[in-house]
Amino acid sequence: MVYNRCGNSGLLLPAISLGLWHNFGGVDVFQDGRNVIRHAFDKGITHFDLANNYGPPPGSAEENFGRILKKDFPGYLRDELIISSKAGYLMWPGPYGEWGSRKYLIASCDQSLKRMGLDYVDIFYSHRPDPNTPFEETMMALDTIVKQGKALYVGLSNYDAEQTERAIQILKRLGTPCLIHQPKYSMFVRSVEEPHATTKKTLLDVLQENGVGCIPFSPLAQGMLSDRYLSGIPEGSRASKSWGFLKKNEITKEKLDAINKLNEIAKKRKQSLAQMALSWLLKDKRITTVLIGVSSVEQLDNNLGCLDHLDYSKEELSAIEKILKNAG
Ligand SMILES: NC(=O)c1ccc[n+]([C@@H]2O[C@H](COP(=O)([O-])OP(=O)(O)OC[C@H]3O[C@@H](n4cnc5c(N)ncnc54)[C@H](OP(=O)(O)O)[C@@H]3O)[C@@H](O)[C@H]2O)c1
Repeated sequence: MVYNRCGNSGLLLPAISLGLWHNFGGVDVFQDGRNVIRHAFDKGITHFDLANNYGPPPGSAEENFGRILKKDFPGYLRDELIISSKAGYLMWPGPYGEWGSRKYLIASCDQSLKRMGLDYVDIFYSHRPDPNTPFEETMMALDTIVKQGKALYVGLSNYDAEQTERAIQILKRLGTPCLIHQPKYSMFVRSVEEPHATTKKTLLDVLQENGVGCIPFSPLAQGMLSDRYLSGIPEGSRASKSWGFLKKNEITKEKLDAINKLNEIAKKRKQSLAQMALSWLLKDKRITTVLIGVSSVEQLDNNLGCLDHLDYSKEELSAIEKILKNAG
């Protein structure tokens, strides 16, 4: 495993991190998820990413992860793991179960720790910006969580470039610097590269300027940037499941066309398409780690292979850009 420094912090993260959004919930086979986590750790993946609502049902991924930790990771191994959780999306009924209030964030962090059987998480995130709560309140809640010893670092997710800049400044003033940002970023989703309408800065610029790490989520566009859908929608794939967030109608003709063409470039590079999609992100030194999901040990091993070929020629990059322009 390659370990990269997270922004200007003291923390190193593996170039590949594993998320438990899909495939680790109450609807999934526990032993399959357990095998993946054990294998990931054996391969040097030290970072596991969760959130209060991962499942389904919400909370069950944290519960299952807690069971796996108890069964397979003796106490001393806690110091070899970076575990993150988040709060922001709907978790429980009533007015205090989502968004960015102090009430919600602190209660949710406590619930996550209980579900996972942990004393603290390594990183706690505000999962999304709340348009109706002052940023000061949300950031002060993150700061409190750290000062209470319930998290070591804090992060932001789904904040745009301008919101991120504001949040980073508040966190700096509070003495709890923002460690990391978790945006959606892949060959198919590139908003982090686009300048903000008012500040004219991209999210990646803001993170670099402030020494904050970047951990793109859904780097395979939920599986589209792999061989998964090259010949239809296979049984058991995310797009085939009623609870999967990848909807069949997202796999358009334009996307499939692009996927097939990208696959040809990947073959020439002697990589799988998934490996190429991951190395394409990791070639940018502003990217600390890519946050993948997998439904099997085989997929995980395949993805780890991206680390063998991270560099790109100019010709490869422009051929990829040409394909992505028409991907819709
Ligand atoms: N902060 C946020 O708002 C947010 C939102 C979404 C996700 N996340 C985080 O990001 C993590 C990753 O998201 P994601 O699961 O969407 O990531 P992803 O890596 O883009 O997609 C994962 C899916 O791709 C398929 N796949 C992976 N490797 C493959 C391979 N080598 N060959 C063929 N197919 C392969 C699998 O699909 P099948 O299941 O079909 O096999 C797998 O479930 C989440 O677990 C979560 O921690 C955060």
